[in-house]
Amino acid sequence: MGMKFLLATHNPNKLREMREILSGCGVEVISPDEAGVHVDVEETGTTFAENAALKAEALSKESGLPAIADDSGLSVDALNGAPGVYSARYGGGELDDAGRCRLLLENLRGAKTRSAHFTCAICCVFPDGTHLTAEGRCDGAISYAMLGTNGFGYDPLFLITAKGKTFAQLSAEEKAEISHRGKALRAFAEKLGTYLAEHPSMDMKKEA
Ligand code: IMP
Repeated sequence: MGMKFLLATHNPNKLREMREILSGCGVEVISPDEAGVHVDVEETGTTFAENAALKAEALSKESGLPAIADDSGLSVDALNGAPGVYSARYGGGELDDAGRCRLLLENLRGAKTRSAHFTCAICCVFPDGTHLTAEGRCDGAISYAMLGTNGFGYDPLFLITAKGKTFAQLSAEEKAEISHRGKALRAFAEKLGTYLAEHPSMDMKKEA
């Protein structure tokens, strides 16, 4: 069994995705629930990277284990980067995914440009304070109506121009190949593999 890493999420899909991609590094990823650790972190950062670091730092401090966190969201150029770090809370806490998509369409009515991008920042914090970070970005445009039923969040509105399809019209595999999260995860897995190869003592210490 490899070195144990905590992933700051309660989302089983994120956990599965992270497990798959990090299994090649000899790393075991467990959830805070599985580790019996509970931390409630306020996402007070102004960037995705700051929020990912806040979550990973808190979880590593609480558990004494290396911890990984991610933060992601949609930035729309015509809205000066909104909803950005507020993507999950756009329009207040009461709206669901479809409500947030409708609000975005309303706020973009008459906009001259519909270009947008998703960002995913990943931060891993080791108990000795070392930070490993990675970021992925996916460029696209906001469609004029919701299209497709796959995925979550703003997927039905996020148009990949080269494919002429929204994220919600792609399979999970097709999305992961080009998505901000897929890119960030692959970059992170590579960095972590290199780091662990260069710091074998880190691995031994945690396995003991
Ligand atoms: P979090 O990083 O899980 O907190 O996600 C932040 C919010 O950004 C989500 O609730 C979604 O609204 C939005 N978001 C992040 N990634 C995606 C994606 O791949 N598709 C659609 N929406 C996303």
